[in-house]
Amino acid sequence: MIPKETVDKIIDAARVEDVVGDFVTLKKRGTNLLGLCPFHGEKSPSFTVSSVKGIYKCFGCGKAGNSVNFIMDHLQLSYPEALRWLAKKYSIEIVEREITPEEKERQTERDSLLIVMQFAQRYFTDKMLNSDEGRSIGLGYFQERGLRDDIIEKFCLGYSLEARRAFSEDAVKASYLPKYLVKTGMSILSNNHVAGTEITGIDIFDRYAGRIMFPIHDDGGRVVAFGGRTLSSDKKIAKYINSPETDIYNKSKILYGLWYGKKAIQKSELCYLVEGYMDVIAMHQAGVENVVASSGTSLTVEQIKSIHRFTKNIVVLYDGDDAGQKASNRAIPLLLEEGMNVKLLMFPDNDDPDSFSRKVTVDEFQKYIVENAEDFLMFKAKKVTGETKNDPIKRAGVIKDIVASIALIPDNIIRSVYVKDCANVMEMEESILQMEVNKIRRKAAPKTNTSDTSQQYSETPLPENYDDLLTPTQPEKETLNFDAEEKELLRIIIMYGNILITISGINPDDPDVESTLAQYIIEDLKNDGIHLENPIHQAVLNEYTNEINKGHLPNLQHFSMSQDPIISSFVINHVLNNYELSHKWENFGVYVSSEISSIKKASQHLLFSLKEKKLNHYISQKQELLKTAEPEAIHGILNEILHLTTLKSRVNKLLGRIVVK
Ligand code: UTP
Ligand code: MN
Repeated sequence: MIPKETVDKIIDAARVEDVVGDFVTLKKRGTNLLGLCPFHGEKSPSFTVSSVKGIYKCFGCGKAGNSVNFIMDHLQLSYPEALRWLAKKYSIEIVEREITPEEKERQTERDSLLIVMQFAQRYFTDKMLNSDEGRSIGLGYFQERGLRDDIIEKFCLGYSLEARRAFSEDAVKASYLPKYLVKTGMSILSNNHVAGTEITGIDIFDRYAGRIMFPIHDDGGRVVAFGGRTLSSDKKIAKYINSPETDIYNKSKILYGLWYGKKAIQKSELCYLVEGYMDVIAMHQAGVENVVASSGTSLTVEQIKSIHRFTKNIVVLYDGDDAGQKASNRAIPLLLEEGMNVKLLMFPDNDDPDSFSRKVTVDEFQKYIVENAEDFLMFKAKKVTGETKNDPIKRAGVIKDIVASIALIPDNIIRSVYVKDCANVMEMEESILQMEVNKIRRKAAPKTNTSDTSQQYSETPLPENYDDLLTPTQPEKETLNFDAEEKELLRIIIMYGNILITISGINPDDPDVESTLAQYIIEDLKNDGIHLENPIHQAVLNEYTNEINKGHLPNLQHFSMSQDPIISSFVINHVLNNYELSHKWENFGVYVSSEISSIKKASQHLLFSLKEKKLNHYISQKQELLKTAEPEAIHGILNEILHLTTLKSRVNKLLGRIVVK
């Protein structure tokens, strides 16, 4: 359990622009910041962050919340886990009380898997540094390949002992459950295990025995997988073994190096894409940190979207060998289609970034990659005038290839610039090239509509004055017909609930009572047995009531910073935003802050019209009931209708009085 004061401290420190900025590149737009939504993967930005209000909201998919919600949602963490993650980021110490066995039980399976991975990473590093075998074989190997100690430490590299069960046995001794060792893929279930029975320590052995270990981090910095390289040159043995897909490791989403590189990618507005673990690490050692590898899979659209959140500029550094060529041929169309600006970089003599970096100095390396990165399409276009110049068939093939690539570029302006430039380089009519590109795009159009899931969201760019649009883009499903009134009532309670009002007694002799507006409204609803129809609204109201019962008057921030995403997102969407727009809010009168004095009358009016509407609803429900009721029930129902009608006429009277006043 995290003490309340620490929670407050964490929330204070976790500025939303800073937290979100770790995962999305944000650009200033008006008073807000704007970026590509990490939740639904879009090509033009509609993800808005307001540092003043401490919230984010996506106009494409509607996700909204505060900095804690963001971490919960993006890193798939529970509320306490998100707070712990933020505490670590801001170096806030959490002194937690011991968790009880029941709490331990409740810890999610995901958490258990993450804990196993953390243990494994520390274990392999410890064995590499502190065992004879580890030092001579594991550490020795890294040193032989020229890695500095600080880099070995930075990437948390390690070594898995040769003994077949070394890791599994030690993990079980350290009380990690065998079933989680298997679920993470760190251990393998032996054939001797009888299906359906509990997995014990003797049923498992190590997946990575005798390999050097590369931990793979997700973009929240947690170890979610490993790549393990064999030291044997036997071609029959797989060079790398990677973790299987698990609840915490989604291969097609994770990029090796993103955790270490995202700050540099954001800063330089550029990302280098390489093939292997060693390439990422070697580039860091050469002082180039804006680098990722797809590791273990060919590059996926999801991985590209993760890069795109930080930058649209990418330089592909695949090997010159056949495999590398094939990989880049697969990756480049995907990159173009995602709207990335793609450059290519080749190393001389079939070197990869790792081997090249060991042949030259750090300065030479950095100079080389800056000077030799070449626009992918220009690179191809030059081939037309170069090597294929005198071979019409080959030349036509390359041109077709270029046309197909240009047609993939989603942005009209960028596409037409490429048409012009490539036509120039290839010494071709621009109009012919344009026509060919258009042909392909027309053919491809319906296909991209159905295959690209991001298309279901609006991709229209935001208008300049989009700050004015801070209301939900699509009307939410109305619950009965009370939605608007209920929302407005909650808005008044949250915004103006602390205003003191004087309530005159029902009888002339009764004394006047002072109350807060919130208490008055809540009591009044309770007295007449009125609940809010929409469960979300009722949840917000309950939260307010609970706080009052605890002796606090919760303010706006209490709600927008709520740990309950339902509450915070409701308040952000309907209270905060409408507050700014109060001058446009015409249905229920005008309550701009300068008119707080009229708020009592206005809220009474609203309360009574809501009641009237509800009573009408309840009455017609009872009347419906009457039609099918058993004879003995009729009397009771009639009485209820009478009671409701009396209430209604009282409300009408009050309503009339207020209107006249
Ligand atoms: P490479 O064979 O180029 O390996 O594969 P490397 O990273 O350069 O390693 P060294 O330099 O030989 O030590 C590139 C990447 O492809 C994946 C790994 O992610 C590797 O880093 N790979 C390769 C596998 O997943 N399995 C394999 O068997 C081979
Ligand atoms: Mn290599």
